[in-house]
Amino acid sequence: MLVLGIETSCDETAVGIVEDRFTLQANVIASQVELHAPYGGVVPEVAARAHLDQMLPTVETALAHAGARIGDIDAVAVTSGPGLMGALLVGVSAAKGIALAHDIPLVGVNHLRAHVEASQLEHGELEPPLVALVVSGGHTSIVVMEPDGGFRQLGSTIDDAAGEAFDKIARFIGLDFPGGPEIDRLARGGDPEAYAFPRALMDASYDMSLSGLKTAVIRELRRMEAAGVEPDLADVAASFQEAIVDVQVLKTLRAAADEGLDQVVLAGGVAANSRLRERFTQECDVNGQRLIIPSVPLCTDNGAMVAASGSNLLAAGVTSELCLAADPNLALAG
Ligand code: KG4
Ligand code: ZN
Repeated sequence: MLVLGIETSCDETAVGIVEDRFTLQANVIASQVELHAPYGGVVPEVAARAHLDQMLPTVETALAHAGARIGDIDAVAVTSGPGLMGALLVGVSAAKGIALAHDIPLVGVNHLRAHVEASQLEHGELEPPLVALVVSGGHTSIVVMEPDGGFRQLGSTIDDAAGEAFDKIARFIGLDFPGGPEIDRLARGGDPEAYAFPRALMDASYDMSLSGLKTAVIRELRRMEAAGVEPDLADVAASFQEAIVDVQVLKTLRAAADEGLDQVVLAGGVAANSRLRERFTQECDVNGQRLIIPSVPLCTDNGAMVAASGSNLLAAGVTSELCLAADPNLALAG
């Protein structure tokens, strides 16, 4: 069974094709990075317009990569939320059009669940219960995936998402958008202990706070500038990144221990971060926990994860009506 997945929740027009739930046949992304770069962030109206331009060519490229025709597709899955309303609507409308024209099922998919389920394309079926850290540009939460596939939230950021913090600090120090990968690169040549940036909310809760860290970095850079001291930006990037990673690792692994779970999944764009991957790998190794992380192209937004998640819903007999609505605030747990 071939499922086509459409992802337009933010700034990537992405289409993936998955066969029989686990086999990746195509994963095509039309990136809008260059369109948004001059603004230093995603401009919702620009994103929606670009999705309209890129939608059908991206579907065609994905079909070509899979060696398939549209008539071979058995179902169409689409991110229905969370995300930017105008951007989501383009994907949802396109998916409805394909479902209606080809008389195939439509499946609305939760973007955050799709990030978690992306791992099945490389690591096989998830075997919950497990703990997942979902870290992206818009979300940062620690959740339990229950044996029935449902999610229970343990904690989340009370202010900035991790990706948002990466992007804001990158912008402040003059790096290109999106800033996460740029900080990751810059930090490789820096000392993670050069600056003692704060780790907030290191109490028993699973909630996180990253805006104080962001302010501390900015204040330190301003202080150095006022004192005529040239900052070593690689050291700043490495120390900032280490502070974020410390909090994510500590809270996620404490959640796993408290819940008595020995499987940990990392999901979302920030799971592409090399230091986050390295630290989780080291710590899970020591603890004897099974760590599941998708490869980098399956961490950042993509259509294959939507096709995979949609395939799971179809296998469970779940489809959506053609009146499927885009929901910018769709929750993962609840
Ligand atoms: O999941 P995603 O592609 O889109 C959303 O659903 O938000 O995540 C995008 C976020 C951006 O903030 C981006 O800077 C961050 O993921 N990101 C990274 C890295 N690659 C992407 N952050 C840190 N290190 C990276 N290597
Ligand atoms: Zn995402």
